[in-house]
Amino acid sequence: MLDNPLELLRVTEATAIAASQWIGTGDKLGADQAATEAMRERFNRIEFAGKIEIGEGKKDKSFGLFAGETVGTLGGQKGVTHYELAVDPIDGTRPTVSSGPEALSVLAIAEENALLTTEEVYMNKIAYGPEVASKAELHLLDPLPKIIERLSAATGKSPSGIVVCILDRPRHEKIISQLRQLGVRIKLIQDCDISGAIATCLPRSGIDLLYGIGGSPEGVITACAMKCLRGGFEAQIVKPDGTPADPKVYAIHDLVQSHCAFAATGITDGSLLKGVRFTPRGPLTHSVVMRSKTGTVRWVTAQHGGNVTRLSI
Ligand code: FBP
Repeated sequence: MLDNPLELLRVTEATAIAASQWIGTGDKLGADQAATEAMRERFNRIEFAGKIEIGEGKKDKSFGLFAGETVGTLGGQKGVTHYELAVDPIDGTRPTVSSGPEALSVLAIAEENALLTTEEVYMNKIAYGPEVASKAELHLLDPLPKIIERLSAATGKSPSGIVVCILDRPRHEKIISQLRQLGVRIKLIQDCDISGAIATCLPRSGIDLLYGIGGSPEGVITACAMKCLRGGFEAQIVKPDGTPADPKVYAIHDLVQSHCAFAATGITDGSLLKGVRFTPRGPLTHSVVMRSKTGTVRWVTAQHGGNVTRLSI
């Protein structure tokens, strides 16, 4: 599966199509349930053994997939090596049900015992693209002026040309005012920091850095994506008030200790992927799939057949 992750695309595609039926409904639980069931059902059609290591968050009331559940036609069989899965059927439940931007269906896969797990809900994160990573290491716990100075040197941009993406949360008020004092531009996002982190690896996004506290499941999934994209990433597990729950700062190789693959399909339009479109021929999806071993990144537009149309809601 790590060498041929294309099958995983079918999982995120099916999940995004199911989730997209709930766009704008205001029904977070309904969207989550539909996406989760679609993801489980599609996994269970693939001949492989997978174990959910990082599942739906404790942060939200959810229908699973929870850690420990096995999937795939061989899932749960004794003596069979199980791949580890980190899944987020909808990263961005809120934007999905409010017709907001950037919602994705997303998953990452790695070898057995490779993914870091934590009971804590949040991680503090720093992410940046491969061009910066080839010139400089940026460290999460360095003071912000030092981070911006190094980023500025690596990109050749003055601070006023640098764009930092950060979740729009009260917990980030201090950081945001510090960034303003440093003269950088800020892209405030309402949700979906996986997409924000990946955007740092795409020159067309204009985003140079993702910084700040977001979900910890999303942190591990982001580490898998950044490993494939050769970007830079560090994370620290924190309490909801932002204080460290663990002094260690985790590098990509701590968060995912094997080769890995990553797949995502857009639910609503975002900087990374377009959302699901419903056409007379069936749904049209936009996805990305990548693997760390080769660094191959495939952008896939799929026209799905059948007569699935937007449900009347
Ligand atoms: P879900 O839709 O899976 O709940 O996650 C959305 C999200 O914005 C993540 O992208 C982000 O990491 C996390 O929530 C931030 O958490 P909070 O909304 O509690 O600040």
